[in-house]
Amino acid sequence: MMETEVLPINPAVPEPAVLQRAARILQAGGLVVFPTETVYGLGADGLSEAAVQRIFAAKGRPADNPLILHVADRAMVDRIAAAVPANAERLMEIFWPGPLTVVLPRQPQVPDAVTAGLATVAVRCPASLVARELIRVADRPIAAPSANSSGKPSPTSAAAALEDVDGRVELVLDGGDCPIGLESTVVDCTAPVPILLRPGAVTLEMLQEVLGEIEVDPHLAAAAEAPRSPGMKYAHYAPRAPLRLYEGTADAVAARLAADAAVLLRDGKRVGVLVSAELAARMPRGVQVENYGSRQDLPTIGVRLYQCLRNFDHLPVDEILAEGVTEQGLGLALMNRLRKASGYRIIYC
Ligand code: TXA
Ligand code: MG
Repeated sequence: MMETEVLPINPAVPEPAVLQRAARILQAGGLVVFPTETVYGLGADGLSEAAVQRIFAAKGRPADNPLILHVADRAMVDRIAAAVPANAERLMEIFWPGPLTVVLPRQPQVPDAVTAGLATVAVRCPASLVARELIRVADRPIAAPSANSSGKPSPTSAAAALEDVDGRVELVLDGGDCPIGLESTVVDCTAPVPILLRPGAVTLEMLQEVLGEIEVDPHLAAAAEAPRSPGMKYAHYAPRAPLRLYEGTADAVAARLAADAAVLLRDGKRVGVLVSAELAARMPRGVQVENYGSRQDLPTIGVRLYQCLRNFDHLPVDEILAEGVTEQGLGLALMNRLRKASGYRIIYC
């Protein structure tokens, strides 16, 4: 264990002295937690095998789950990718800086620890000014997974990150709440037809519009398929209490979820529900309600989802019942995270 320093940083106008201090820690092989527009990242020098190894230790992350390298701009990609296919070039032009990660062929100097020995490397240029300036000042790609312990929901605030990694990193930069709250979209651009590996705020519909053709990893549709993105088999995004997910039309879900909650209560169980504002109003008395916001407002659900999941770890609950949302637009990312949080315990209504 070590003493973790926490420094506030202005997300709109990051203080140069704070950036300098963080960059020096990274250059010396240390770990820095920093905000991005998606979730907080746990950063290390992306070209140092030893520094990257420390990320895996701090998170308890399995070594065969590769990391994303974060770059300050398009030019930095040429230090780590062996080639940039035309499809990837278009995606970077349109969606960078932003919540999109592209998987590219790697250069040999990218440490094996980053890629888990794969021939490819995942690259993202964040919209967050703190993140981009930190990378620019450190003058190297920064490897950064989400700053949670392996298996927990990603942190969307410095406080949530500290719950998991206090004492395991040199510095936490506190830049306030993340404006998106869900991890970046990941697209494999090494195949002739790009493949969506992880849905995020750059939606499938947006990708289709730019690329024309894109495949969707079968894992995103059916739980049974082997995941192509190595991380997909590990990430649980799960609170401590078991969670089951209710999918179907809003009315059918509302009726079934409320009825099941009532039965569990009668059996003496402590029940938590993770539901929309619309359904929160109809819950039986005695359940712990985490309200993720209106069904009509998917971006707000994105911001709040992981906060709500983490809140359950501070509440006395034995069972959590969660209401699904649409799979349109950002809904695909929300449902992907909810299904994983449930361990695919899904009730179709
Ligand atoms: O929004 C984000 O992407 C955040 C912030 C900090 O940038 N980072 C993040 O990293 O979510 P992480 O490590 O939690 O998730 C990275 C995902 C994993 O599912 C991993 O398996 C996948 O990207 N990935 C990394 N390198 C890959 C590669 N070469 N091929 C396929 N998938 C890869
Ligand atoms: Mg993660």
